Amino acid sequence: TVGGLDFAVADLAEAEFGRKEIRLAEHEMPGLMALRREYADVYPLRGARVAGSLHMTVQTAVLIETLVALGAEVRWASCNIFSTQDHAAAAVVVGPYGTPEEPKGVPVFAWKGESLEEYWWCTERMLTWDGEGPNMILDDGGDATMLVHKGTEFEKAGVVPSADENDPEEYQVFLGLLAESLAADAGKWTKIGEGVLGVTEETTTGVLRLYQLAAAGELLFPAINVNDAVTKSKFDNRYGIRHSLIDGINRGTDVLIGGKVAVVCGYGDVGKGAAESLRGQGARVVVTEIDPICALQAAMDGYQVRTLENALPEADIVITTTGNKDVVTVEHMASMKHQAILGNIGHFDNELDMAGLARYPGIKRIVIKPQVDEWIFPSGRTILVLSEGRLLNLGNATGHPSFVMSNSFSNQVIAQVELFTKHEEYDNEVFRLPKKLDEKVAKIHLDALGGELTKLTKDQAEYIDVDVEGPYKSDHYRY
Ligand code: NAI
Repeated sequence: TVGGLDFAVADLAEAEFGRKEIRLAEHEMPGLMALRREYADVYPLRGARVAGSLHMTVQTAVLIETLVALGAEVRWASCNIFSTQDHAAAAVVVGPYGTPEEPKGVPVFAWKGESLEEYWWCTERMLTWDGEGPNMILDDGGDATMLVHKGTEFEKAGVVPSADENDPEEYQVFLGLLAESLAADAGKWTKIGEGVLGVTEETTTGVLRLYQLAAAGELLFPAINVNDAVTKSKFDNRYGIRHSLIDGINRGTDVLIGGKVAVVCGYGDVGKGAAESLRGQGARVVVTEIDPICALQAAMDGYQVRTLENALPEADIVITTTGNKDVVTVEHMASMKHQAILGNIGHFDNELDMAGLARYPGIKRIVIKPQVDEWIFPSGRTILVLSEGRLLNLGNATGHPSFVMSNSFSNQVIAQVELFTKHEEYDNEVFRLPKKLDEKVAKIHLDALGGELTKLTKDQAEYIDVDVEGPYKSDHYRY
């Protein structure tokens, strides 16, 4: 705690550099800046206490300061152990008007390279407010939401959480933290769960968890699925990945991608961006899919569609984008080419069997540099694993660039305002934002790029049965 502000970041001395990059990012985030202007005199988030769990990057700093500009109090943690940009975290703590000696910004609990214990500690600190608890959650991947739900569940059942040794390490650490927090304050999570008016969720994996909770009737508060705003998943997941996937591979390995064979597992929004970025560098891209529709899309886009087993003998680079688990097993890894590169860009590391790799008989690990490991099999063959199997674009590089995140985060801010100001209109279900707002976010960014939009005539609008001012598509339209 410095000057009444509690926080945990790597080094406040990095704040000045962070502030410079935040200033540059603001220009590249026209959606967020437009929302600041639109709400300049209204403060729609006055009274909101937003607990945020989302990669603590420069772009997220602009999001946080937009929430503050709209009147919110905010506490923040990252949603991944490797994704924090320490200078951004420092700058947010210091704030635009503070100094490292007298920070005046937002409490952030995040640094690059947290242990799992530290990660859950940060998430818990972010959700622990003096006085009244948070009343809004902004989540990416659903970990903050899970902590509140699981905590409430164990409190209601009166059971002390204990992990099974077969549980993944991450879950064991999570339950350990939960047991400690319950021992310290027995009603804590129930109270937080009751105080939260709603959650807005950033990504595919977190949205899946929310729909599962809602289907089981267990969702404690309303949720807005930000991911499935068109201006989020069809842009961030795709064009963001197109930029940041090869950024991560290049910064991690600096291996020439042209001429190599790259396998992309999954051809959803992220997979489409991943395949395009690798092809853009001249790689021959092979796609694996379980869904015939996405597989056919990949084929039509000119990629070979293969099973992983059949693709591996040729593969120089393997990237998972599925949001599923056990996609690359340790047997797959053992059969990869010498010095093949393996990385995941889906939300959780369980797409790759990292635990199985660490347990493989005779395996050795050489740390080349942070977030780049060479694993040596007894055969003498090695593979290079990026970010220990966690999302490599944020672990090895700096994630998506500002402009595309401005689309995603504009939807986040709109969703926060919507749930905070109108929560009584929402049940404990998962909702999407109206298409009109999606079109508004797109328009701001199109204008910033100098795009010219054609205006419908009244006659034309009637002919295709839409309003001249939009929305321009039916809800079942897929883009
Ligand atoms: P999506 O649902 O559009 O695509 C996933 C695809 O993987 C689907 O087409 C599915 O059929 C396929 N798939 C599932 N199991 C498979 C298997 N065993 N083998 C091959 N294909 C399989 O999801 P989206 O939006 O593309 O997101 C994917 C993941 O990336 C999620 O975990 C999401 O949270 C994460 N994400 C990561 C970002 C980053 O910056 N690293 C940005 C956005 C999303």
